[in-house]
Amino acid sequence: MNAAEQAIIQQAAALDRADTLAPWRQKFALPRKAGGEPLLYFAGHSLGLAPLAALDLVSEELADWSRLAVLGHHTAHRPWIDYHTFATRGLQHLTGAKPCEVVAMNSLTVNLHLMMASFYRPSAERPKILIEAGAFSSDHLAVSSQLAWHGFDPATHLELVAPRPGEDTLRHEDIESTIERLGSSLALVLWPGVQFRTGQAFDCGRIAAAAKRVGATVGFDMGHAIGNLPLALHDWDADFAAWCSYKYLNAGPGAVGGCFVHERHVARRDLPRLAGWWGHEPATRFQMRADFVPSRDAAGWAISNPPVLATAPLIASLELFREADIAKLRDKSLRLTGFLLELLQRHTERGLRIVTPTHADERGCQVSMRVVGGSSRGRRVFDALGDKDVICDWREPDLIRVAPVPFYNSFADVQQFVARLATSLREVP
Ligand SMILES: Cc1ncc(COP(=O)(O)O)c(C=O)c1O
Repeated sequence: MNAAEQAIIQQAAALDRADTLAPWRQKFALPRKAGGEPLLYFAGHSLGLAPLAALDLVSEELADWSRLAVLGHHTAHRPWIDYHTFATRGLQHLTGAKPCEVVAMNSLTVNLHLMMASFYRPSAERPKILIEAGAFSSDHLAVSSQLAWHGFDPATHLELVAPRPGEDTLRHEDIESTIERLGSSLALVLWPGVQFRTGQAFDCGRIAAAAKRVGATVGFDMGHAIGNLPLALHDWDADFAAWCSYKYLNAGPGAVGGCFVHERHVARRDLPRLAGWWGHEPATRFQMRADFVPSRDAAGWAISNPPVLATAPLIASLELFREADIAKLRDKSLRLTGFLLELLQRHTERGLRIVTPTHADERGCQVSMRVVGGSSRGRRVFDALGDKDVICDWREPDLIRVAPVPFYNSFADVQQFVARLATSLREVP
């Protein structure tokens, strides 16, 4: 090891010693190989690590079920009848919402559809939906099928904003000018808080304001943003948002997601919605009446009773976020990704192109990069990283995505990642 490499190891160690959030790492289950050797985990943008508290809470619910059976609906430690409400404070904290504006339920794509059932109300004059080119396939399918459901052809009514030729990420002025151009034909803007492929974070308030100026509804897919960046959905004036909880929210594979509905809509009776008994106001729900009286909050969009075992890890995880504070996590995240970008530029400059914007306002935890030499070399470098016990991911056609997560990644992790990447780049011709 040369002197420069030793200096970086020392720098990382000093940053870890000064990091007041470093003890949180102990509260997560760190994945290991079959032989017990630790893995270098950089895939929190895909599946967050298990909080030990989540494992405990699931066990507690299982114990309550075996001890109490049906009585647990009212007498469990956290009565199951109100189970989704135990997520409310934590979701408020992360989304910048009022208590009436958030609800934990379903999965992301299901929630997008439920939100669009209410907030995508096209007419012959105003039928269009705008999303980003290269959106996550499920979002693309969701909006296309909503258009078709209403009798509109996605080929002509789904509008996309693409990066300029030779660029990887989107310019806000291009998003705004597209919205302006579509004007009164635009019914809905559905935008990601953070783009899944490039890791670009957007100024959601600016996008919402542009949509409002032309009279369009605006919803956000916050799957890659929640728990990653502090959000202000109420102040940004979003009409709705939806997210999953298995990425930065660390609530486990397929965990229960959530929705935001702006306060100005929650008590509206004129909005059509796909209803079920759990959206009915709690006071009269068990009268089992045929008329639907929606709960006057985002929970009025719930359909089924909450899946307790799948919601328990979310509740446990949200408590950790409230204790640690998302603003402090973001502060560390910026320093962690800043350190990663600095090392990447110093040590792998010639072998890589960073795709994620480097400006702090335009990135979250995730850094996406492209290996110089083409997609097939990129894939081999990615495989070489896997051989060196690095867990990150590959997105076709040519991106390696890594996410140092402030809850459980250290500056030493970042240093080791870059060292292994530099070796992999040297090894792969
Ligand atoms: C941006 C985005 N949209 C949609 C989905 C699909 O989520 P789900 O399977 O929970 O519906 C994902 C999953 O990773 C995603 O990242």
